[in-house]
Amino acid sequence: MADMLTIALSKGRILEQTLPLLAYANLTPSEDVQTTRKLMVDGPVIDGTQVRFLIIRAADVCTYVEQGAADMGISGRDLLLEHRPHVYEPLDLKIGCCRICVCGPKELVEQGKPKAGSRICVATKYDNLAEQYYLSQGIQAEIIHLYGGMELAPLVGMAERIVDIVETGSTLRANGLVEETTLYDISSRLIVNPASAAIKRSLIKPIIEQLREAVQRRETLV
Ligand code: PRP
Repeated sequence: MADMLTIALSKGRILEQTLPLLAYANLTPSEDVQTTRKLMVDGPVIDGTQVRFLIIRAADVCTYVEQGAADMGISGRDLLLEHRPHVYEPLDLKIGCCRICVCGPKELVEQGKPKAGSRICVATKYDNLAEQYYLSQGIQAEIIHLYGGMELAPLVGMAERIVDIVETGSTLRANGLVEETTLYDISSRLIVNPASAAIKRSLIKPIIEQLREAVQRRETLV
């Protein structure tokens, strides 16, 4: 629909940091997206085009944008690296900053990294990234997929390492785990459906530029 611009936003902790950036670009949702149970919320009308927001799970943002159900979205780099969706990634929003690390119980990590040729059980929600890393190390990794609370897996003897997000490190500390290796620095990225980028260029390009300005302004304030 040429007279509609759909932007997919992640529910949860990133949303709070996203809203001031959107406000700077005059993209304020018509209701409080942090509390509403609605999954689709209107935004402003820009040059005759109705903006609307989809409020969805972080892991689903790239799917909506890749499928063209949303023209643009905000997604963590972790999910882009893991799922490699066919989307443009024009802007680092520099929010939601954290890292993907290999972590393990302190006493195991202190023994040193597993040797090439060894076998290891790894719990993660980043199956592809974990598999790539261990392949690159010549280590045979059995990947155990979990949806959250990865830190529990080594405590109950289900895995020797986890590959997970670390932000403050407090979840690791609370569970007696330490970082072994940082694999990727993560932040939230603006993503754009390639067909939308071409068809709705006159609408999308100024939004990207305004968001770029908002990011720069935020950096000078911080
Ligand atoms: C994430 C991540 C870690 C934690 C890291 O989990 O999976 O568990 O945050 O943050 P920290 O370093 O500041 O402690 P989240 O809270 O999103 O829940 P989840 O385990 O259900 O994914």
